[in-house]
Amino acid sequence: MQHLVDTYDLTDQQIQDLLRDAKNFKHQKPIQLLRDTLLITLFFENSTRTRSSFEVAAKRLGAAVVHLDPSRSSTNKGETLEDTFANLCAMEPDGIIIRHSDNEIPKQLADMELSAVINAGAGNYAHPTQALLDLFTMMEHFDGNVEGKTVAIVGDIVSSRVASSGIRLFKRMGINVVLVAPQPFMPQSDLPQYEKLEEVMDKVDVIMSLRAQLERHTTPIFDDYEAYAKHYCITKERMGEREILLLHPGPVMRNIDISDEMLKDPRCKVLEQVKNGVYVRMAVLKLLMLDA
Ligand code: CP
Repeated sequence: MQHLVDTYDLTDQQIQDLLRDAKNFKHQKPIQLLRDTLLITLFFENSTRTRSSFEVAAKRLGAAVVHLDPSRSSTNKGETLEDTFANLCAMEPDGIIIRHSDNEIPKQLADMELSAVINAGAGNYAHPTQALLDLFTMMEHFDGNVEGKTVAIVGDIVSSRVASSGIRLFKRMGINVVLVAPQPFMPQSDLPQYEKLEEVMDKVDVIMSLRAQLERHTTPIFDDYEAYAKHYCITKERMGEREILLLHPGPVMRNIDISDEMLKDPRCKVLEQVKNGVYVRMAVLKLLMLDA
C-alpha cells in the first residue's frame, strides 16, 4: 500500500512518471483507468481548489468519490479521528484523501495501514500535490528545464505548507530557492533570506507569492495588511518587463499578494496552476491506485 504524506514518499522515477502522465492527461482525454476505484474525501479545513480538483481528477478517471463533511460527522459526538478513519476504512475504499490542521495526522493515519492515505494539506508542514503541480507548471513553462532556475517564495512562509513541501521538492529537483518576507513571516532556514523584494527581482526566474495564513496566527501579526502590501504585493511596477513566471497557490488576497493588474498579466499563471492541478492529481491517483 503506498501513501502520499509528502513527496518523500515518491521515488525519483515515480516523480518523473507522474510528470509524464500529467502531461499526457493534459493533451489527451484519458480512458477510465480507475472505473472500479472508490475514494473518500475528508476535509477538516476549508478548501476550494484541492478538494474539487481531487474530485474532478477522480471522476475524469472513472472513480467514484464519497465526501464526508466533518462538521456533520460523528467526530462532533466525541468519536476520535482514528475511529472515524477506521470506520470509513471498514467500508473498503481504495484511498482516503485528507486535509487537517495538524501536521502529523496524515502520517498517523497512514501508519494504521488500513487504506492508502493522500495528504491534501496538513498544518504548515506538507501539501504534496500542490508542490507537484507547482513543479509541473514550472516544467511546462521552462520546456522541462528547471534545474538551476531560481524561485523566490514571497509572503507568510513560516505558516505555509505550500512553501515547506515546495522547498523540499524544488531543492530535490535542483531548483534554487530564496525566501522573501518580513521577519515575523520568515522560517528558520539555511536558504538565502531577504527582507526586500527589490533585492531579488533581477535574480529570479519564478516568484511564488503566498497569502498571510491568518487562520494559523495565534495572535495578529500585522494590524494593517495594506502597509504590508506596499512592500510585498507583486505589482506591474515591481515586475517591470522582466520575464518572471508568477505563481500563487490560492486563495489570492487581491492587491495584498498580487495586484488586480498582475493577475490579468500573461506572466501570471495562477489559473493554469489550478488547471494543471487536476492533471497532476489524476497522475497521483493513477500512481497510487493502479501502478504502485
Ligand atoms: N491551494 C490550495 O490548497 O487551495 P485550497 O485551500 O482552496 O484547497
